[in-house]
Amino acid sequence: MLDKTVVELFAGVGGFRVGLEKSGWKTLFANQWEPGAKTQWAFDCYNRHFPDSTNSNIDIAKVPESEIPNHELLVGGFPCQDYSVAATLATSKGIQGKKGVLWWEIRRIVDSKRPRFILLENVDRLLKSPAKQRGRDFGIILSCLNSLGYSVEWRVINAADYGFAQRRRRTFIFATRDESIQNTLYKNSYLEEGFFKRAFPCSAKVSNTGGSKKKNFSIPENLVELTEKFKAEFGNSGFCRDFKAHTNEVTPLFNGPYTVLGDILQKDVPEKYYVKDLDIAKWQYMKGAKKEKRVTKEGFEYNYSEGPIAYPDYLDKPARTMLTTEGSKNRSSHIVEDPQTHRLRILTPVECERIDGFDDNWTSGMTDHMRYFCMGNALVVGLIEKMGRVLSELIEN
Ligand SMILES: C[S@@+](CC[C@H](N)C(=O)[O-])C[C@H]1O[C@@H](n2cnc3c(N)ncnc32)[C@H](O)[C@@H]1O
Repeated sequence: MLDKTVVELFAGVGGFRVGLEKSGWKTLFANQWEPGAKTQWAFDCYNRHFPDSTNSNIDIAKVPESEIPNHELLVGGFPCQDYSVAATLATSKGIQGKKGVLWWEIRRIVDSKRPRFILLENVDRLLKSPAKQRGRDFGIILSCLNSLGYSVEWRVINAADYGFAQRRRRTFIFATRDESIQNTLYKNSYLEEGFFKRAFPCSAKVSNTGGSKKKNFSIPENLVELTEKFKAEFGNSGFCRDFKAHTNEVTPLFNGPYTVLGDILQKDVPEKYYVKDLDIAKWQYMKGAKKEKRVTKEGFEYNYSEGPIAYPDYLDKPARTMLTTEGSKNRSSHIVEDPQTHRLRILTPVECERIDGFDDNWTSGMTDHMRYFCMGNALVVGLIEKMGRVLSELIEN
C-alpha cells in the first residue's frame, strides 16, 4: 500500500492538514509565509499545533525543491491571480510566468516532485477569470497539469450544500498521474464515478430545453497561444485529460442533516462583541439597500446602488461566506441577535472557527483581528476530511 504522505503549501492555519489527519493522512512538510507581515501569525499557529512536521516560513518561491520531501499528495489553497504567459517568457527551458504568481511555484514543485495526487483549492471566480477573457486562467492550470501527465477534475462546492455551517463556494481541483486510479475514476464518465462525485453526490443539471449542459472542448497545449486566444465557459464540474476538457453543470444531492448559524453560537458572550448603541444606525445603513450619488477620488460623481442583506443574519440558515474582514465594521461581517440576550452582536472568533470546522480556540494567542483574518482565509475542513476519506478508499482498494 502507498504511504499516505502529504506536503501542504500555503498552509495558513492548517485547514487541509486538520481534514486530512482525520482521514488518516500524514503531513511531512508545510510551507506558510504571509508576505510583508512582521509577525507570522498563521505560521506560528500552524507550528504550535503541528510541531512534528518540517514547517517552513519563507516565500514559497525561495524554497528549493530539494528541501521538499517526496510525497504522494500535494495540497494547497492558492490565490486567484493572472496566470498569463508572455511570449518572451516562454523559453525553451520551460515556461516562466509573471513573478510572484504562485501557480508557477505549484507547477515547479509538481514538475520536480511528481506527487501521485494533487488537491487544490481556489475561489469560485477562478473558472471565469479574467473577466475580459473568461476561462483563460483556469485553462492555463489544466494545460500545465495535462502537460505534466496529470488528469484533472474540478468541482465548485458550496460547503452548506453538504451540511456544513457556511455558504462558502470554492473551486476544488483534483489531479492524478496514477493510471490505475484514473481507470477506476474515469473509465466511464467523471460524472458517474469521478473523485468529487464519490465525496459529494450530485446530478447533472438539465437545461431549459431539456438537454444536458455538457460541453467538450480542446485546451491549447501551448501556453502562449492559450494566453492570447483561449476563452471557455467552464461549468461547475469537469474533467480534462490529454488537453480534452469535458464540463457540465451539476446540482448537489444531499438529504441532510444541515447545520445552521444558530447551531454553532456560543453562550455567555463577552460584552466587547456586542454592537454599541451608537453604532446601530451605522450597521443598519451598511446592511441596507442604497441608491446614492458617490464621488471617486478623482472627483467623478457616479450612481451607486446595492440591495439589502439580512440584518441581523438568519440563525436558521448556514452562515454567509466569511471574509478576512469578518468582525470589522463592514457590510459583509455577520451580525446576529444573540439568543440569550436578544441584543445584536458580531460573531466571536470561536464561532468563526466553528463555522470553518476547526476546534474551539484553534487560533487563540492571536489578536481577534488576526483570528478573524485567518478564518476568512481558511477552508471548511469537513470538506477536506471527506476528500481524504475518498482518496484513502481509492488507494486501499
Ligand atoms: C487562502 S490561504 C490558505 C489558507 C489555508 N488553507 C488554511 O486553511 O488556513 C493562502 C495562504 O498562502 C499564504 N501565502 C501567500 N503568499 C505566499 C508565499 N509567497 N509563500 C508562502 N505562502 C504564501 C498566505 O499567507 C495564506 O495563509
